[in-house]
Amino acid sequence: MKIGIDKMAFASTDQYIELTELAEKRGVDPNKYTIGIGQDRQAVVPPTQDIVTLGAQAAQKLLTPENVRGLSTIIVATESGIDNSKASAIYVKHLLGLDDYVRTIELKEACYSGTAAIQFARGLVALNPQESVLVIAADIARYGLNTSGEVTQGAGAVAMLISANPHVLAIEATSVSYSRDVMDFWRPLYATEALVDGKYSTNVYIDFFKNTLTRYQQRTGRQLADFAGIVFHLPFTKMGKKALEAVLQDRTDDVANRLREQLTASQVYCRQVGNLYTGSLYLGLMSLLQNGQIKPGDRLGLFSYGSGAEGEFYSGIVQSDFAKNLSDVDHDLAERHQVSVPEYERLFNSQLGMQAADIQFDTQADNAPFVLAGQKNHQRIYQRR
Ligand code: COA
Repeated sequence: MKIGIDKMAFASTDQYIELTELAEKRGVDPNKYTIGIGQDRQAVVPPTQDIVTLGAQAAQKLLTPENVRGLSTIIVATESGIDNSKASAIYVKHLLGLDDYVRTIELKEACYSGTAAIQFARGLVALNPQESVLVIAADIARYGLNTSGEVTQGAGAVAMLISANPHVLAIEATSVSYSRDVMDFWRPLYATEALVDGKYSTNVYIDFFKNTLTRYQQRTGRQLADFAGIVFHLPFTKMGKKALEAVLQDRTDDVANRLREQLTASQVYCRQVGNLYTGSLYLGLMSLLQNGQIKPGDRLGLFSYGSGAEGEFYSGIVQSDFAKNLSDVDHDLAERHQVSVPEYERLFNSQLGMQAADIQFDTQADNAPFVLAGQKNHQRIYQRR
């Protein structure tokens, strides 16, 4: 039985900054950001948006009444949880008006947990093939103003329906996971911004990619030539290039060039939005499917990485109706508006964060279908428009 990704939808905020403008304000050569890091724009998050509102928005784009009837479970994968105890999936389910007879849970492991959610969902679908699982990978990547990680921030959610006989990607049996206790990125309970050893993290990422790919190749006998493209977790687009070049080295044959071209196609949306943490690999997949030379029957490799650290390499076969089962990311990105760097800084500092006090946000300026209206008696107040 084929099991995999049946539908995919993306949501982000409706505003962004130009990174050339950020570079100018930070006294950095803009080429460092656009070429050296490989990012052009970055999603800006108003205080009225968080992983719940973004996740609900992405999920709403893909759920039809028929999908809703078969839904057994909602898994929200995130590093940016909004409560230390309660799963954000419960808020998402409520905002979407879904049946109470649905299992709701949250998973965490930095940027990796979206992949764990998909693998767990495969197991649930294998047990009950008539049921489906909604996986939402949602995050807000915050490193802090004037930090070296600032240029690699971003925000958004990718919602994926995991089912039998999927329309986008049938996941293959072999997957290789690899984990080690590594302090390359973490966020203590008292912090709203991540602590990171960025250079170290980049090296660990490449090691994990090589380790998992090698083991996958040993187990399956497949070579790089067997992949139409490899999609990477993209904390910034240059990271995917570094990892791919680490295995291609000086190869310039057709296979190597094809993988390089498809990598570029997978980076298009990340360049415009920034890091989604758990969702980045899957926004990369949507980007490749919408901008690359991919046809039904092609095999894609997927490399997932979450600091701390956990990596996984797996593969899937592209299905015939894939193009009709992806939300229109180009349209959504074209609808966004630019904000100035001072406005981005103001919004960055206006988040609810760790505040305990009651607060009411001005939701007038936010046109999203779901908003965080504030906090009362230590409870977040969400609204559906
Ligand atoms: N023109 C073109 N390229 C330039 C440049 C310029 N004027 N100035 C610098 N660069 C290049 C550098 O050569 C370097 O390229 P390389 O990595 O291929 O060698 C790149 O831009 C970054 O420069 P660097 O000085 O290394 O940047 P940094 O010290 O500011 O750190 C990160 C970059 C990504 C490590 C930092 O943003 C970070 O910590 N990010 C968060 C953590 C993260 O995303 N980890 C990834 C694994 S999940």
